[in-house]
Parts: sequence; C-alpha cells; structure tokens
Amino acid sequence: MNRGTKVAVVGAGRVGSTFAYTLSASGLVHDIVVIDADADRAEGEAMDIAHAVPFHRPVQVRAGDLADAAGAVVTVITAGAAQRPGETRPALLQRNVEALRGIVEEVVYANPGGLLLVATNPVDALTFAALRLSGLPSAKVLGSGTVLDSARLRAELATRYGVDPRNVHAYVLGEHGDTELVPWSTTRLANMRLQDYCALTGSSCTAADMEQVALRVRDAAYEIIRRKGATNFAIAAALTRIVEAIVRDESSVLTVSTLLQGQYGIDGVCLSLPAVVGRQGVRHVLPIPLAEEEEQALRRSADVIRQALQSLGL
Ligand code: LAC
Repeated sequence: MNRGTKVAVVGAGRVGSTFAYTLSASGLVHDIVVIDADADRAEGEAMDIAHAVPFHRPVQVRAGDLADAAGAVVTVITAGAAQRPGETRPALLQRNVEALRGIVEEVVYANPGGLLLVATNPVDALTFAALRLSGLPSAKVLGSGTVLDSARLRAELATRYGVDPRNVHAYVLGEHGDTELVPWSTTRLANMRLQDYCALTGSSCTAADMEQVALRVRDAAYEIIRRKGATNFAIAAALTRIVEAIVRDESSVLTVSTLLQGQYGIDGVCLSLPAVVGRQGVRHVLPIPLAEEEEQALRRSADVIRQALQSLGL
C-alpha cells in the first residue's frame, strides 16, 4: 500500500522520539516508522505520538524494525550511546560505530534508494562511518552537522540585535563540536555585514562581542546538558528542517555534514559547509569565500575529525 511520503527514525531516545513527534506535527510526511533496539520503547513512543495526531494533521505513526525502513525517503539515525562517566570520545565513537554498522547494513539492504541522515554524536565522524559502511554515493549520506549550531547563532544574533532571526544569514561551519567556527566575514543582517549593521543602528559588535557570541553558540549544548541532561527540542527541529528540504525537494542551503572532496584543500572528511539539499540529498557543497584565518580554522577542524576517523581505522 502506498502511504505517501515515509520517514524512518532509528533510535527512540530523547532525540529520536522528540524528532518523530516534531515531524508528525509538521504535516510534511504521511508515514513515520519509529525503530529502536528496545522494541517496547519504540512501541510506547509511537503510540504516544500517534495519539497526538488528531490534534495535528493525518499521519501514520507506528513502531517497526529496521526492515520497515523500506520505502523511506530518508532514514534518520539518532541511535547511539551517550558518553559514560570517564569515557573518552574515541571510546564512545568506537561503541557508536559498532552499533551503526548493524543499523546501516540492514537499512541499506531494506531501502537502497533512500537517504541516510545521521544525528548521533560525534556526528561528523559517524556520518563518514555511515557513508563508508553504506556504500551509498556521498550525496545520499548526510549528517545534521551544524544546522543546529547555525540556528543557535542566528537566534543569538537576533536576540542581541533585536531583529527577526529570518533576517539573519549566518553559518557555523566545520565540526559539530569544539572546533566549529563562525565565519564572520560571511555573516549578514538585513543584507549588511555585521559591522555595517552595528554602525547603522548604534549597536556594539567589537571582536570581544563576536567572541562571546561564538562561545555561547559553541558551548550551548554543554550548558543545556548541565541543566537538563540532554538536548532534544532544537535538534529535533533541525532534523525536521533538513527532512523538509529533502521531502519537498527545496534545494535549501543548510550546513549539513557532508563529504568534502578537495574544498579548501580538505579531502575525505565529513564536516559542515553550506550545501544545497533536496530530494536526492546533497546537490552541491558550496565552498563560500572565507577569510584566510577562517579557512585555517576550518582546516584545523577537519584535522580533528580526521584524527577521530584514524583512531577507528577509517
Ligand atoms: C547539541 C547536541 C545534540 O548540540 O550535539 O545539542
């Protein structure tokens, strides 16, 4: 039976279930399958989300197993362990790659034509691992990357300068993590460079102000996790936005994590750059003009991700 646009969600933890709910309320798709190694958990989340459907628009929400990813336009992978106390990032990465291996193999077998969207952290290394494990073309495997960080940056600038975030064009690039960077040379408010906007409106945008904004964005996840133990709403909204660009074939420019193939001299690493995203996945990666020090920061970010991949032998 053709149920229209289908999306599969692997992992029914806080991120996966919040994403499934946000997507169900969006009206973007007809069929959502929630998949988790803990079948009861997936069933419980699917039931709870399905009971909210009468308050939104019709959509089928059900639990399934990995074979039920068949026919999905995109399978969103949120499954994975969180860091244990005292556990190093490479150790976490190793554990999550092992889990990812089984997921990717089964999903691609069931659904060779669909896209994979990875959200599990560390997202850039795991996007690369999913790409290699899947054997899919690079356009079809993307990560949530810094789509969320770019939203945090826009929200931060919007609040600070009292302007609608939709009139803020600003990207966070590189790793979704400690080495991410804000390319201020490309940031625009009302189509003006930040310095010009500040001069026009009598606002302060000194180097110290910019540094503070970038740090608040970079450290947002730590601040939230310290208070509530995890982040879920904004990442769910970011995933929904990426899925919207895919299922509606929007050619939206989003800072997803994607394979670099020589841009800025970076090769064979997934990280975030502005990319054109539509039904076929990443249509183009856009190596936008950056200041020299921004390019250097991007290469340093790529080096850190590459080191993580090397620790896995990838
Ligand atoms: C965050 C986590 C999901 O940035 O990486 O909120």
